[in-house]
Amino acid sequence: MSERIFIGVAWPYANGPLHLGHVTGAYLPADIFARYHRLKGNDVLMVSGSDQHGAPITIRAEQESTTPQEVAAKYHRQFVDCWRKLGISFDLFTTTHTANHTQVTHDMFLTLLNKGYIYKDKMLQAYCPKCQRSLPDRYLEGTCPYCGFPKARGDECDECGKPLSSSELEEAHCYLCSTPVRFESSEHFFLRLTSFQDKLKEWVKKQTHWRHSVLGTTWKFLDEGLKDRAITRDLDWGVTIPQSGFEHKRIYVWFEAVSGYLSASKEWAKLQGDDLAWQDFWQGDSKSFYFIGKDNIFFHTLVWPAMLMGYGGLNLPYDVPANEFLTIEGRKLSTSRNWAVWLPDYLERYEPDSLRYALAANMPEAGDSDFSWHEFLRRNNNELVATYGNLVHRVLTFAYRNFDGVVPTPGELDEKSQELLHKCETTLGNVDSLLYRCNFKKAVGEAMSLAQEANRYLDEQAPWKTIRKEPQTSAKSVYTVLSLLSTLKTIFYPFLPFSSEKLHKFLGFGGSVKEVGWRLQPLPPGQKLRQPQPLFAKLDDSIIAQETDRLGSMKENQDVK
Ligand code: MF3
Ligand code: ZN
Repeated sequence: MSERIFIGVAWPYANGPLHLGHVTGAYLPADIFARYHRLKGNDVLMVSGSDQHGAPITIRAEQESTTPQEVAAKYHRQFVDCWRKLGISFDLFTTTHTANHTQVTHDMFLTLLNKGYIYKDKMLQAYCPKCQRSLPDRYLEGTCPYCGFPKARGDECDECGKPLSSSELEEAHCYLCSTPVRFESSEHFFLRLTSFQDKLKEWVKKQTHWRHSVLGTTWKFLDEGLKDRAITRDLDWGVTIPQSGFEHKRIYVWFEAVSGYLSASKEWAKLQGDDLAWQDFWQGDSKSFYFIGKDNIFFHTLVWPAMLMGYGGLNLPYDVPANEFLTIEGRKLSTSRNWAVWLPDYLERYEPDSLRYALAANMPEAGDSDFSWHEFLRRNNNELVATYGNLVHRVLTFAYRNFDGVVPTPGELDEKSQELLHKCETTLGNVDSLLYRCNFKKAVGEAMSLAQEANRYLDEQAPWKTIRKEPQTSAKSVYTVLSLLSTLKTIFYPFLPFSSEKLHKFLGFGGSVKEVGWRLQPLPPGQKLRQPQPLFAKLDDSIIAQETDRLGSMKENQDVK
């Protein structure tokens, strides 16, 4: 029976280019998961969009002397372009700046307000006497009361990861001009998180299938005790507050961004021409997966579930397989220091599948992992090119030349060949269950070891030696490896969609791997092969120095968070 799978992916702030941390943290694992489930014949809805509101965007606009609209629109276009080139297959990638999103957010807000889960209260709001304006959290800098980090911001400490409220910051000053701020009383709305504490605890207790680190972080917040949180801000860029007297304030970016999962699903349904189609993915036995980086855990395992519990009638997350961080050349990724590999730059220079492979093979699932150009080249040259690509190329060119460009007829298969074909079946099963449980790194490793095994078999069999005197023996091993390639194209497809589609064509099939589904597609003897081309290109070692030199140089892409 087919399953229904909802995949929500973190909404990137439209205030700067994407980098490899984003890709490996959320977008790539989500896409691998979506492609896998689609192959399995399951119904998948994968949505996200650019997070266009809040201080991250207004700060960027002020620094570039432009408007928040322009900043958001520019990066949104860039994101969409990146997804296309990298093959991130969203069913919808929208933005938080749509009428539909405002409507869904208002509905969420008003429902929670009417049920008493949102209330009005006064809060101290920072004001900068020099800039003559009130300052949202992100505009405040000061010392973290928990870890002493001097550059913590009013919403969270980037060092220890604790969410903060601006009044907790010590020595709070204006982020833009460094003037010490004063606090004034201002009216805001609060989400009554305290009233969900017990229900959330009961619910989290049952989530034994969550990753260790996700459970750990979630329990830390629960054990400390949740606090009510302000969900409106003194800002004029964002979703309005549907209450009079609040015309100059806006809904807090996090409250509305997480609501985006629902609004995007509704937008998708409308685009399908079936306004209620979103319900299939939010009610009943559909499972919701949220792919995010570990800094977003609090909002996805506690705040969003609390909002959903309060709203009622919608599915809570089934899993939140948050990834840990990616370091770059052994150092913490920093956008402001340009210690980052920017996705648009990467895609301009290299192949999407090479990156997808290198990141998947080293995904930060159970701990931080490191990206280095040296390791990237090694993965590309030794694994993609020398192991997988070479296997494909030698057997395809050999078959193409020696068997009139068709799949040879094998005759009876010996034990070795049968064993190898049997291995295809077991690998298909293993990769299946690994992907089902979001073990991406292990899954791609299994796929690559099947390619390795096939290389060993091919070396042993050496069909090029038997082709003259024992053409039948040669045909048998060539057939066996070609059949195995038909499995590799499937199990590699979630990771390497572009190369898998190519391989599918080289093997002489029509249509696409997507249509074949998650199964062994038998290769009929006599099927006409297509003229093979190398699947992957070797990269020159000089790239390592070129690329590492770019790191940390401040010419381009300075980002603000
Ligand atoms: N924009 C946030 C960030 O980049 C992520 C938002 S995820 C959300 O950290 F969907 F929950 F909003
Ligand atoms: Zn100031």
